[in-house]
Amino acid sequence: MQTDIAHRFRPFGASIFAEMTALAVRHEAVNLAQGFPDFDGPPTAKDAAARAMHEGHNQYARMIGVPVLNRAIAASWARSGRGEVNPEASVTVTNGCSEAIPATILGLLNPGDEVVVFEPFFDFYVTAIAMAGAIPKFVTLRPPTDERGAWWFEPGELRAAIGPRTRAIIVNTPHNPTGKVYTRDELERIAAECIRHGLVAITDEVYEHLTFEPTLPHISLATLPGMWERTITLSSLGKTFSLTGWKIGWAIAPEHLSRVVRAAHQYLTFCAATPLQHGAAAVLDAPGTYAAELRRLFIENRDALSAALSRAGLRVYPSHSTYFVMADHTPLRFADDRAFCYYLTERVGVAAIPPSVFYGTPGLGRDLVRFAFCKKRETIAEAIGRLGTLARG
Ligand SMILES: Cc1ncc(COP(=O)(O)O)c(C=O)c1O
Repeated sequence: MQTDIAHRFRPFGASIFAEMTALAVRHEAVNLAQGFPDFDGPPTAKDAAARAMHEGHNQYARMIGVPVLNRAIAASWARSGRGEVNPEASVTVTNGCSEAIPATILGLLNPGDEVVVFEPFFDFYVTAIAMAGAIPKFVTLRPPTDERGAWWFEPGELRAAIGPRTRAIIVNTPHNPTGKVYTRDELERIAAECIRHGLVAITDEVYEHLTFEPTLPHISLATLPGMWERTITLSSLGKTFSLTGWKIGWAIAPEHLSRVVRAAHQYLTFCAATPLQHGAAAVLDAPGTYAAELRRLFIENRDALSAALSRAGLRVYPSHSTYFVMADHTPLRFADDRAFCYYLTERVGVAAIPPSVFYGTPGLGRDLVRFAFCKKRETIAEAIGRLGTLARG
């Protein structure tokens, strides 16, 4: 028997992360495709979660989050200089940012509403927009050039993407897959459009603590003048503390927008895993130097991997944050990004992601390849050794 997938999911096919990870396993390739660390998170989190389990915190949590976690998220936001937020009215705990994205989009958008999305994008935005029956309008981030040291967008393209049906704009900073950190100037332009057109800003800041350049600090759009009232800020525990499998995320927003997120969250999953919420609260309250050490490791990995990719003949773009680096593979003369990634995984033994799946505009991304460097030094060294054999036979 063959059962059709509902129309809304047909354009998307199987997730590229699952596809490339399965290929990596089959060919025993070093998996620099999917962005998860091959080392563990801090004991503070794990001990507190285990304790919570043994102390009987094993039933459904409160829909908006266990109170200690809502308080810890609000305190962490305030400690980073972003202002005081009410943990009850403004913080909603979700199952990773992966759930916060559809909760926000389904709670906010009606069929036919339009949303501005910068491409390349994290694919969950576009699938959630499809689930809501809404329509994405793409603005393209262009690669760095000799004159511009970072990925950039044309302000005119942003203005042109906004029309009478536009309700929201999604901004991911620090940005997956490019490693771009939006500058204050860029965020001010976006804020001006939001205010002029009455748009809600949805920001995905899961890599907020993984920035590498002192001159390019992470800035939350919600902290710009006039933006708190119209911004839903999404983030999570996974990237900062190497706990991607915990799936603890959150949305921070003024009360009227928290209502929007909660309207959908309560019927998507209702709550996140209770003991893990306690573990998350413990590590957010006592983060120690974990993130600083992670940044040091990732900078080393980024530099070593970028140099190896350059030696192999790729044009490597600078990565200022996250744990991804993008490169142009066209000097090696493969047909497109998928052909290159399949060759790399099957023949060289290093798996990467073909970024054309992160674009809505047909044809874009075919020149590119994305590598994740959130791995042990040894893993990156193994990948670099294998990349040495990358020469077209
Ligand atoms: C930009 C971005 N947003 C959201 C997520 C999902 O976050 P979480 O693991 O908290 O569900 C990811 C994970 O890859 C991501 O890269």
